[in-house]
Amino acid sequence: MIDSKQVDKESHTPVLLKEAMFYLNIQKNGIYLDGTVGLGGHSLSILKDLSKNGRLIGFDRDSDALKICNRKLSQQKNDFTLTHNSYHKITEVLKELGVGLVDGILLDLGLSSFQLNSAERGFNSTINSNLDMRFDKSQKRTAKDFLNHLGVVELANLMYKYGDERRSKIIAKNIEKIRPINKVHELLEAIRRSTPPKNRQKTVSRVFQALRIAVNDELGKLENFLTSFHSNLKIGGKIVIISFHSLEDRLVKHAFKSLEKSKVIKVLTKKPITPSETEIDANRRSRSSKMRVAERVL
Ligand SMILES: C[S@@+](CC[C@H](N)C(=O)[O-])C[C@H]1O[C@@H](n2cnc3c(N)ncnc32)[C@H](O)[C@@H]1O
Repeated sequence: MIDSKQVDKESHTPVLLKEAMFYLNIQKNGIYLDGTVGLGGHSLSILKDLSKNGRLIGFDRDSDALKICNRKLSQQKNDFTLTHNSYHKITEVLKELGVGLVDGILLDLGLSSFQLNSAERGFNSTINSNLDMRFDKSQKRTAKDFLNHLGVVELANLMYKYGDERRSKIIAKNIEKIRPINKVHELLEAIRRSTPPKNRQKTVSRVFQALRIAVNDELGKLENFLTSFHSNLKIGGKIVIISFHSLEDRLVKHAFKSLEKSKVIKVLTKKPITPSETEIDANRRSRSSKMRVAERVL
Protein backbone atom coordinates (compact mmCIF):
# COMPACT_ATOMS: atom_id res chain seq x y z
CA MET A 1 0.00 0.00 0.00
CA ILE A 2 1.11 3.54 -0.70
CA ASP A 3 0.34 6.31 1.77
CA SER A 4 0.27 9.98 0.90
CA LYS A 5 3.53 10.73 2.77
CA GLN A 6 5.29 8.15 0.64
CA VAL A 7 3.78 9.68 -2.50
CA ASP A 8 5.32 13.03 -1.65
CA LYS A 9 8.67 11.51 -0.79
CA GLU A 10 9.18 9.29 -3.83
CA SER A 11 10.93 10.67 -6.84
CA HIS A 12 12.49 9.69 -10.12
CA THR A 13 14.44 12.04 -12.37
CA PRO A 14 13.39 11.55 -16.01
CA VAL A 15 16.29 10.67 -18.29
CA LEU A 16 17.01 12.47 -21.61
CA LEU A 17 13.89 14.56 -21.02
CA LYS A 18 14.82 17.55 -23.22
CA GLU A 19 15.92 15.25 -26.03
CA ALA A 20 12.76 13.12 -25.86
CA MET A 21 10.57 16.24 -25.90
CA PHE A 22 12.49 17.66 -28.87
CA TYR A 23 11.86 14.55 -30.96
CA LEU A 24 8.25 14.02 -29.82
CA ASN A 25 7.59 17.61 -30.95
CA ILE A 26 4.22 17.66 -29.15
CA GLN A 27 1.24 18.82 -31.25
CA LYS A 28 -1.03 20.54 -28.77
CA ASN A 29 -4.20 18.71 -29.84
CA GLY A 30 -2.44 15.38 -30.33
CA ILE A 31 -2.71 12.00 -28.63
CA TYR A 32 0.47 10.68 -26.99
CA LEU A 33 1.21 7.34 -25.44
CA ASP A 34 3.75 6.88 -22.64
CA GLY A 35 4.27 3.09 -22.46
CA THR A 36 6.31 3.19 -19.23
CA VAL A 37 4.77 6.10 -17.38
CA GLY A 38 6.44 5.34 -14.00
CA LEU A 39 6.14 8.36 -11.71
CA GLY A 40 5.15 10.51 -14.68
CA GLY A 41 8.35 12.48 -15.18
CA HIS A 42 8.20 12.46 -18.98
CA SER A 43 4.42 12.39 -19.02
CA LEU A 44 4.12 15.58 -16.98
CA SER A 45 6.13 17.45 -19.62
CA ILE A 46 4.00 15.98 -22.41
CA LEU A 47 0.79 16.89 -20.60
CA LYS A 48 1.98 20.47 -20.03
CA ASP A 49 2.49 20.92 -23.79
CA LEU A 50 -0.99 19.59 -24.69
CA SER A 51 -4.15 21.67 -24.94
CA LYS A 52 -7.54 20.67 -23.51
CA ASN A 53 -8.19 18.84 -26.80
CA GLY A 54 -5.04 16.74 -26.54
CA ARG A 55 -4.75 13.47 -24.64
CA LEU A 56 -2.08 11.44 -22.87
CA ILE A 57 -2.36 7.70 -22.29
CA GLY A 58 0.06 6.17 -19.78
CA PHE A 59 0.82 2.46 -19.30
CA ASP A 60 2.65 0.82 -16.42
CA ARG A 61 2.80 -2.70 -14.99
CA ASP A 62 3.36 -1.27 -11.49
CA SER A 63 0.10 -0.27 -9.79
CA ASP A 64 1.95 1.58 -6.97
CA ALA A 65 3.79 3.72 -9.52
CA LEU A 66 0.48 4.45 -11.27
CA LYS A 67 -1.05 5.77 -8.02
CA ILE A 68 1.82 8.22 -7.56
CA CYS A 69 1.71 9.17 -11.23
CA ASN A 70 -2.03 9.77 -11.09
CA ARG A 71 -1.54 12.19 -8.21
CA LYS A 72 1.23 14.02 -10.01
CA LEU A 73 -0.60 14.36 -13.34
CA SER A 74 -3.89 15.35 -11.68
CA GLN A 75 -2.31 18.69 -10.83
CA GLN A 76 -2.60 19.50 -14.55
CA LYS A 77 -5.93 20.37 -16.15
CA ASN A 78 -5.36 18.37 -19.32
CA ASP A 79 -6.82 15.01 -20.22
CA PHE A 80 -4.98 11.82 -19.33
CA THR A 81 -5.76 8.13 -18.88
CA LEU A 82 -3.60 5.68 -16.94
CA THR A 83 -3.82 1.96 -17.53
CA HIS A 84 -2.37 -0.96 -15.55
CA ASN A 85 -1.09 -2.85 -18.55
CA SER A 86 2.09 -3.82 -20.32
CA TYR A 87 2.94 -1.56 -23.25
CA HIS A 88 3.04 -4.56 -25.59
CA LYS A 89 -0.78 -4.58 -25.30
CA ILE A 90 -0.87 -1.22 -27.08
CA THR A 91 -3.22 -2.33 -29.88
CA GLU A 92 -5.81 -3.97 -27.59
CA VAL A 93 -5.78 -1.12 -25.07
CA LEU A 94 -6.17 1.63 -27.67
CA LYS A 95 -9.06 -0.32 -29.17
CA GLU A 96 -10.73 -0.68 -25.75
CA LEU A 97 -10.30 3.07 -25.16
CA GLY A 98 -11.79 3.82 -28.57
CA VAL A 99 -8.63 5.65 -29.60
CA GLY A 100 -7.40 5.47 -33.20
CA LEU A 101 -3.86 6.31 -34.25
CA VAL A 102 -1.59 8.29 -31.94
CA ASP A 103 0.85 11.14 -32.64
CA GLY A 104 3.73 9.82 -30.58
CA ILE A 105 4.88 6.95 -28.39
CA LEU A 106 7.53 6.99 -25.67
CA LEU A 107 9.16 4.03 -23.92
CA ASP A 108 11.63 4.67 -21.09
CA LEU A 109 12.61 1.09 -20.29
CA GLY A 110 13.78 -0.65 -17.14
CA LEU A 111 12.97 0.29 -13.58
CA SER A 112 12.49 3.60 -11.77
CA SER A 113 14.37 4.94 -8.73
CA PHE A 114 11.08 4.49 -6.86
CA GLN A 115 11.25 0.73 -7.50
CA LEU A 116 15.02 0.49 -6.99
CA ASN A 117 14.84 2.28 -3.63
CA SER A 118 11.92 0.25 -2.30
CA ALA A 119 12.64 -1.53 0.99
CA GLU A 120 10.36 -4.45 0.06
CA ARG A 121 10.77 -5.31 -3.58
CA GLY A 122 14.20 -6.92 -3.83
CA PHE A 123 15.51 -4.87 -6.78
CA ASN A 124 18.32 -3.38 -4.72
CA SER A 125 21.34 -5.44 -3.69
CA THR A 126 22.04 -3.10 -0.76
CA ILE A 127 18.62 -3.61 0.91
CA ASN A 128 18.03 -7.00 2.52
CA SER A 129 14.42 -7.51 1.50
CA ASN A 130 12.54 -10.48 0.05
CA LEU A 131 13.63 -11.34 -3.49
CA ASP A 132 10.45 -10.31 -5.29
CA MET A 133 11.47 -8.16 -8.32
CA ARG A 134 8.05 -8.17 -9.98
CA PHE A 135 7.02 -4.93 -11.72
CA ASP A 136 3.46 -6.22 -11.59
CA LYS A 137 2.53 -7.56 -8.15
CA SER A 138 -0.41 -9.49 -9.60
CA GLN A 139 2.03 -11.69 -11.51
CA LYS A 140 2.61 -15.06 -9.81
CA ARG A 141 6.32 -15.78 -10.25
CA THR A 142 8.80 -13.81 -8.17
CA ALA A 143 12.61 -13.84 -8.22
CA LYS A 144 12.50 -16.31 -5.30
CA ASP A 145 10.55 -18.76 -7.46
CA PHE A 146 13.16 -18.54 -10.20
CA LEU A 147 16.05 -18.99 -7.73
CA ASN A 148 14.50 -21.90 -5.87
CA HIS A 149 12.83 -23.86 -8.67
CA LEU A 150 14.99 -23.53 -11.80
CA GLY A 151 17.58 -26.21 -12.53
CA VAL A 152 21.26 -25.27 -12.25
CA VAL A 153 21.73 -25.16 -16.03
CA GLU A 154 18.67 -22.96 -16.53
CA LEU A 155 19.82 -20.61 -13.78
CA ALA A 156 23.31 -20.38 -15.26
CA ASN A 157 21.87 -19.71 -18.72
CA LEU A 158 19.62 -16.97 -17.35
CA MET A 159 22.57 -15.15 -15.74
CA TYR A 160 24.69 -15.57 -18.84
CA LYS A 161 22.01 -14.54 -21.32
CA TYR A 162 20.53 -11.55 -19.47
CA GLY A 163 23.52 -10.47 -17.38
CA ASP A 164 26.47 -11.48 -19.55
CA GLU A 165 27.86 -13.06 -16.36
CA ARG A 166 30.88 -15.29 -17.05
CA ARG A 167 30.80 -16.93 -13.61
CA SER A 168 27.19 -17.95 -14.12
CA LYS A 169 27.84 -21.72 -13.73
CA ILE A 170 29.62 -21.52 -10.40
CA ILE A 171 27.09 -19.00 -9.08
CA ALA A 172 24.23 -21.29 -10.11
CA LYS A 173 25.91 -24.23 -8.32
CA ASN A 174 26.32 -22.18 -5.14
CA ILE A 175 22.72 -21.02 -5.35
CA GLU A 176 21.68 -24.67 -5.50
CA LYS A 177 23.85 -25.47 -2.44
CA ILE A 178 22.34 -22.82 -0.21
CA ARG A 179 18.71 -23.02 -1.39
CA PRO A 180 16.10 -22.06 -0.29
CA ILE A 181 17.01 -18.47 -1.09
CA ASN A 182 14.47 -15.91 0.04
CA LYS A 183 16.37 -12.75 0.91
CA VAL A 184 18.84 -10.47 -0.88
CA HIS A 185 21.63 -11.39 1.59
CA GLU A 186 21.27 -15.08 0.76
CA LEU A 187 21.76 -14.43 -2.94
CA LEU A 188 24.73 -12.18 -2.12
CA GLU A 189 26.23 -15.07 -0.12
CA ALA A 190 26.00 -17.38 -3.16
CA ILE A 191 27.76 -14.70 -5.24
CA ARG A 192 30.38 -14.13 -2.50
CA ARG A 193 31.24 -17.85 -2.53
CA SER A 194 31.65 -17.76 -6.32
CA THR A 195 33.72 -14.62 -6.90
CA PRO A 196 36.96 -12.98 -5.78
CA PRO A 197 36.33 -9.67 -3.92
CA LYS A 198 37.75 -7.63 -6.82
CA ASN A 199 34.95 -6.81 -9.29
CA ARG A 200 32.39 -8.68 -7.12
CA GLN A 201 30.10 -5.65 -7.19
CA LYS A 202 29.93 -5.85 -10.99
CA THR A 203 28.87 -9.50 -10.77
CA VAL A 204 26.23 -8.55 -8.20
CA SER A 205 24.82 -5.91 -10.56
CA ARG A 206 24.82 -8.33 -13.49
CA VAL A 207 23.05 -11.09 -11.53
CA PHE A 208 20.40 -8.69 -10.20
CA GLN A 209 19.84 -7.29 -13.70
CA ALA A 210 19.53 -10.79 -15.19
CA LEU A 211 17.00 -11.92 -12.60
CA ARG A 212 14.90 -8.77 -12.99
CA ILE A 213 14.83 -9.12 -16.79
CA ALA A 214 13.80 -12.79 -16.51
CA VAL A 215 11.15 -12.28 -13.80
CA ASN A 216 9.45 -9.53 -15.83
CA ASP A 217 10.08 -11.06 -19.27
CA GLU A 218 11.35 -7.62 -20.23
CA LEU A 219 12.89 -8.59 -23.57
CA GLY A 220 9.93 -10.72 -24.64
CA LYS A 221 7.56 -7.81 -24.06
CA LEU A 222 9.82 -5.38 -25.90
CA GLU A 223 10.18 -7.73 -28.88
CA ASN A 224 6.43 -8.18 -29.03
CA PHE A 225 5.85 -4.41 -28.97
CA LEU A 226 8.47 -3.81 -31.68
CA THR A 227 6.57 -5.99 -34.13
CA SER A 228 3.33 -4.01 -33.87
CA PHE A 229 3.74 -0.46 -32.51
CA HIS A 230 3.93 1.17 -35.96
CA SER A 231 0.35 0.24 -36.86
CA ASN A 232 -0.83 2.47 -33.98
CA LEU A 233 1.17 5.53 -35.07
CA LYS A 234 -0.10 8.24 -37.45
CA ILE A 235 2.01 8.94 -40.51
CA GLY A 236 4.49 11.54 -39.26
CA GLY A 237 4.09 10.24 -35.68
CA LYS A 238 7.26 9.55 -33.67
CA ILE A 239 8.45 6.61 -31.61
CA VAL A 240 11.07 7.40 -28.94
CA ILE A 241 12.73 4.53 -27.04
CA ILE A 242 15.19 4.98 -24.18
CA SER A 243 17.04 1.82 -23.18
CA PHE A 244 19.54 1.08 -20.42
CA HIS A 245 21.50 -1.94 -21.60
CA SER A 246 22.80 -3.40 -24.82
CA LEU A 247 20.26 -6.26 -24.98
CA GLU A 248 17.38 -3.78 -25.19
CA ASP A 249 19.20 -1.36 -27.46
CA ARG A 250 20.10 -4.13 -29.89
CA LEU A 251 16.45 -5.21 -30.20
CA VAL A 252 15.35 -1.62 -30.86
CA LYS A 253 18.13 -0.98 -33.38
CA HIS A 254 17.37 -4.14 -35.39
CA ALA A 255 13.59 -3.68 -35.32
CA PHE A 256 13.94 -0.07 -36.51
CA LYS A 257 16.36 -1.14 -39.28
CA SER A 258 14.00 -3.83 -40.51
CA LEU A 259 10.96 -1.48 -40.50
CA GLU A 260 13.01 1.15 -42.31
CA LYS A 261 13.91 -1.42 -44.95
CA SER A 262 10.19 -2.05 -45.51
CA LYS A 263 9.78 1.76 -45.77
CA VAL A 264 7.32 1.86 -42.84
CA ILE A 265 9.45 4.13 -40.66
CA LYS A 266 12.37 6.48 -41.11
CA VAL A 267 15.04 6.30 -38.42
CA LEU A 268 15.84 9.82 -37.17
CA THR A 269 18.83 8.87 -34.99
CA LYS A 270 21.50 7.10 -37.05
CA LYS A 271 23.50 6.83 -33.83
CA PRO A 272 21.70 6.65 -30.47
CA ILE A 273 21.39 9.85 -28.44
CA THR A 274 23.25 9.66 -25.12
CA PRO A 275 23.10 11.97 -22.08
CA SER A 276 25.41 14.97 -21.70
CA GLU A 277 28.15 15.05 -19.04
CA THR A 278 26.00 17.55 -17.15
CA GLU A 279 23.06 15.14 -17.07
CA ILE A 280 25.27 12.24 -15.99
CA ASP A 281 26.77 14.39 -13.19
CA ALA A 282 23.30 15.33 -12.00
CA ASN A 283 21.79 11.84 -12.39
CA ARG A 284 24.13 8.83 -12.32
CA ARG A 285 21.28 6.55 -13.40
CA SER A 286 21.27 8.23 -16.82
CA ARG A 287 24.85 7.17 -17.64
CA SER A 288 23.94 3.99 -19.52
CA SER A 289 20.91 5.39 -21.35
CA LYS A 290 20.56 5.40 -25.15
CA MET A 291 17.70 6.92 -27.07
CA ARG A 292 16.59 5.90 -30.57
CA VAL A 293 13.87 7.70 -32.52
CA ALA A 294 11.93 6.94 -35.68
CA GLU A 295 9.03 8.46 -37.62
CA ARG A 296 6.24 6.56 -39.34
CA VAL A 297 6.33 7.29 -43.05
CA LEU A 298 4.00 4.66 -44.55
C1 LIG B 1 12.48 4.01 -16.07
S1 LIG B 1 10.86 3.84 -15.41
C2 LIG B 1 9.96 5.10 -16.23
C3 LIG B 1 10.09 6.43 -15.59
C4 LIG B 1 9.23 7.52 -16.20
N1 LIG B 1 9.60 7.80 -17.57
C5 LIG B 1 9.35 8.79 -15.37
O1 LIG B 1 9.96 9.75 -15.84
O2 LIG B 1 8.84 8.79 -14.24
C6 LIG B 1 10.27 2.42 -16.20
C7 LIG B 1 8.86 2.05 -15.82
O3 LIG B 1 8.42 1.09 -16.78
C8 LIG B 1 7.59 0.15 -16.15
N2 LIG B 1 7.58 -1.02 -17.03
C9 LIG B 1 8.54 -1.93 -17.23
N3 LIG B 1 8.15 -2.82 -18.16
C10 LIG B 1 6.89 -2.46 -18.56
C11 LIG B 1 5.96 -2.97 -19.50
N4 LIG B 1 6.23 -4.06 -20.22
N5 LIG B 1 4.82 -2.30 -19.66
C12 LIG B 1 4.51 -1.20 -18.94
N6 LIG B 1 5.35 -0.68 -18.02
C13 LIG B 1 6.53 -1.30 -17.84
C14 LIG B 1 8.22 -0.04 -14.79
O4 LIG B 1 7.27 -0.54 -13.88
C15 LIG B 1 8.68 1.39 -14.46
O5 LIG B 1 7.70 2.06 -13.72
